[in-house]
Amino acid sequence: MPTPSARPSGIPDRVNVLLLGTGGREHALAWKMKASPRLGELWVEAGANAGLAALGTTCPEAIDVRQMFRLTRWCERENIGLVVIGPEAPLAQDFATLLAAPNRPVFGPSRDGARLEWDKAYAKQLMRSVSIPTAEGRIFDNHEAAARYLESRESDVVIKASGLASGKGVVVCTSRAEAMAAIDRIMLKKEFGEAGNQIVIEERLRGQEVSVLALVDGRTISVLDPCQDHKQVGEGDVGANTGGMGAYCPTPVLDDAQLAQIERQVLVPAIDGLRREGVTFRGVLYAGLMLTPAGPKVLEFNTRFGDPETQPLMVRLKSDLVELLYATATGQLDAVDYAFDPRTAVTVVVCAEGYPGSIVKGKPITGLDEAKEVEGVTIFHAGTGRNAKGELVTTGGRVFGVTALGADLAEAQARANEAASRIVFQGAFFRRDIGHRVLKRRADQPVS
Ligand code: AMP
Ligand code: GLY
Repeated sequence: MPTPSARPSGIPDRVNVLLLGTGGREHALAWKMKASPRLGELWVEAGANAGLAALGTTCPEAIDVRQMFRLTRWCERENIGLVVIGPEAPLAQDFATLLAAPNRPVFGPSRDGARLEWDKAYAKQLMRSVSIPTAEGRIFDNHEAAARYLESRESDVVIKASGLASGKGVVVCTSRAEAMAAIDRIMLKKEFGEAGNQIVIEERLRGQEVSVLALVDGRTISVLDPCQDHKQVGEGDVGANTGGMGAYCPTPVLDDAQLAQIERQVLVPAIDGLRREGVTFRGVLYAGLMLTPAGPKVLEFNTRFGDPETQPLMVRLKSDLVELLYATATGQLDAVDYAFDPRTAVTVVVCAEGYPGSIVKGKPITGLDEAKEVEGVTIFHAGTGRNAKGELVTTGGRVFGVTALGADLAEAQARANEAASRIVFQGAFFRRDIGHRVLKRRADQPVS
């Protein structure tokens, strides 16, 4: 890690920021940006969760590609000096290109760069073309051909809707019947809409999962500490896939040598592959990997910060986030240093009853003050808002990302669980076992 001395020359002392996105990741980004002396005014989208809304001023313009003229004019009037795009949907709509101006860099790739995320079939082809290790996969846009292929397969498969589906368009199958049902749901019943016009069928890999996120400024790649996410809804990793039930950082499942290998074999070739297609990537490249006996293999690329991975990353980041994001957006990453708190952070996502299926919204929330009293805890809102009476209520499936720092994973987990258990709303639930794969392994080791 570089020493914290170098300072990039081209970063303004004060920057007004427009942050797109309304969820937990954005609350964590906003919280960290607020600690920067470079932050001028922070503007957030209408519809931001209650925690995020409290940190910024609401942008009066719609974030709508059909009303770009109004939005860019407003950016000029308010002297917005940096746009930060949190979620995948505005990246896929090319807001990065539409909002960029000579004095207004954008953190987040163009639609062409974000294609690595919004088109899994394209990502698979790109990985193949630059030899990035990934699960064997086939692409189909025809249900009949997909069904015929499944008939010929003996081993377990994973079925993925190629387009964006909030992390829910992936079905890990344990039988042919299950795989057939999945292609019916995705391709015929269109459970994920147009995202299921094309699918990827890939071999099922086994091993530990890890999320490796890197800042990429077009040339320089700065790899962040690795995180482990927990996608399945139930403790012990059972049940349906979700957007993420919790994450912790750093994870010991990767050592420095493996992280360097992933940078070399996955991140660098992906950015080079895009460059060969004429795409300059600026933002976060996030590789979701499986650590298989044959080495790390890519499960997916995202082209944004992870949610909830961002929450533990931000409480550990010791550097100026506005500076880092600005440097990334303007190709100056090589001049900026960053460092992380050596402690471990765990985020536990408190969810609404029914998540990841249909949920009931509008449940009043209490207990936040009690939760905040737990040592080392920061609470990020995700799906919260205010009702007509001004009371805090639930508005989404993932309601809070309760984040705790601890001397080690066990302490951080215990603190996050204690704080999460103090938050009260009807139907609230969360996983108490975030980090279990590592904690279990340690517990199994004989005590000497
Ligand atoms: P993705 O959105 O592609 O990362 O998939 C979501 C989750 O599905 C991953 O985090 C894994 O838990 C699981 N998954 C995806 N692809 C595979 C695969 N090839 N083998 C096993 N599990 C997978
Ligand atoms: N936590 C997984 C994601 O952000 O896609």
